[in-house]
Amino acid sequence: MLRKFQIEDINEILEIEEEAFPKTAYSKEAFLDYANTFPDSFIVIETGKDIAGYIIFDMSGHIHSTAVKPVYRRKGFGKMLFMHALKYAKERLWLEVRSKNITAIRFYETLGMKIVGKIPNYYDEDDALIMVLSRKA
Ligand SMILES: CC(C)(COP(=O)(O)OP(=O)(O)OC[C@H]1O[C@@H](n2cnc3c(N)ncnc32)[C@H](O)[C@@H]1OP(=O)(O)O)[C@@H](O)C(=O)NCCC(=O)NCCS
Repeated sequence: MLRKFQIEDINEILEIEEEAFPKTAYSKEAFLDYANTFPDSFIVIETGKDIAGYIIFDMSGHIHSTAVKPVYRRKGFGKMLFMHALKYAKERLWLEVRSKNITAIRFYETLGMKIVGKIPNYYDEDDALIMVLSRKA
């Protein structure tokens, strides 16, 4: 089930984040800030037992972050979160991804996103790739 983030979810979200991005995880404060700024588009996916993943996007179609708990990967949860964001994207969905994050790049390519640019050293030691899915293409 997809639903909006609630404050009670914060510890589970932080666990998912730390497993997904061990060196660069967002802090609790950063997530609470996102929850305040994007209350309608900070979305979690709940299994009935726990939270399997989350996505944060904005109404310009920018995906700020998404991650799925390792035990739930390759089961379609990431795609469900992405498709939810796509419903709200009027013109396009876009994001920055680390050029070394091959899993995420393959995932986004499967969903139809294309690499349209690169920002050298965006993440200190790594470049960012800009990926876009245009609804008008
Ligand atoms: C990227 C991520 C969100 C994908 O979530 P997921 O729930 O595993 O993705 P899905 O099960 O919906 O995968 C959909 C399709 O994407 C592709 N895909 C997903 N993971 C892949 C991988 N490791 N290698 C190659 N293709 C992959 C496949 O085509 C997959 O379909 P299939 O399983 O039927 O072959 C997840 O791997 C993750 O949390 N990674 C760490 C955090 C991260 O990198 N976030 C993105 C930062 S920009």
